[in-house]
Amino acid sequence: MWLWIVVLLALITSVSLMALARHRFRRSQILSELAEQRSDWVVKHPIQIASTADRSQLANLFAREGLVRIDHFLAPEFLQLLCEEAKTNIPRMVPSYIPTHKKGNTLSYENIHRHAHGCLGLYHSPELREWISAVTGMPVFPTPDRDQSSLSVLCYKDAGDHINWHYDHNFYTGRHFTVLLSLANKSRSGELSQSQLQRRTAAGDEAVDTSPNVLVVFEGAKVLHRASPTADGDLRIMLSMTYCADTRISWRKELARRVKDTAFYGFRALWD
Ligand SMILES: [Fe+2]
Repeated sequence: MWLWIVVLLALITSVSLMALARHRFRRSQILSELAEQRSDWVVKHPIQIASTADRSQLANLFAREGLVRIDHFLAPEFLQLLCEEAKTNIPRMVPSYIPTHKKGNTLSYENIHRHAHGCLGLYHSPELREWISAVTGMPVFPTPDRDQSSLSVLCYKDAGDHINWHYDHNFYTGRHFTVLLSLANKSRSGELSQSQLQRRTAAGDEAVDTSPNVLVVFEGAKVLHRASPTADGDLRIMLSMTYCADTRISWRKELARRVKDTAFYGFRALWD
């Protein structure tokens, strides 16, 4: 009897492992195909950065504060294009709800590859990478394609959408930076939404202005932050990008990263 149970368990385990390996192989193929097409899409979607802010001043501020904000970052017409892309993709976003921690909608990196080439072009542009490298004081690179949080659109559109206090944990070998570009931020009356990016400092909690076209750069593993809840009629859309000084990762941290991503994309983040 016991022998049959052991044989059955071994069989189930083998079949599951083979199915997982096949799925992972197929996923790797899809990601490589998207990455191959990416350079064409990026070339066809030139970006327009308007900011002339002094990068060395920003770098000093970043070294002191761990966070900087750059107003009027993109040319208005380019911001408009990205905002329209994001709004068009709202039906493709994955809703998530973790009681007391998070409620909102996310467009994944994979869907951005397929349906939001302006956003994709900005993230992979040498110009933006140079900006982030200058501000952080080190060469940085986009995080890996399999990391669905490398580039995502975060949408807070229903009353109570938010993400509670957290750090953006760094699973990589090098320092890891979060870059948020505000694509839309308005209430029903046309004022800014009630949802604020807030950071916790020794002096207390402070709001970081995320009016449309503000770019915020911070080291999420060191800055405790949150997005406070939206009110009815609010719409706040952020393009979230991550860059890293060294994108190597151990298998243990890769697993931990996938567990973290279930908060945004559900359990499929564990094996996708
Ligand atoms: Fe965060």
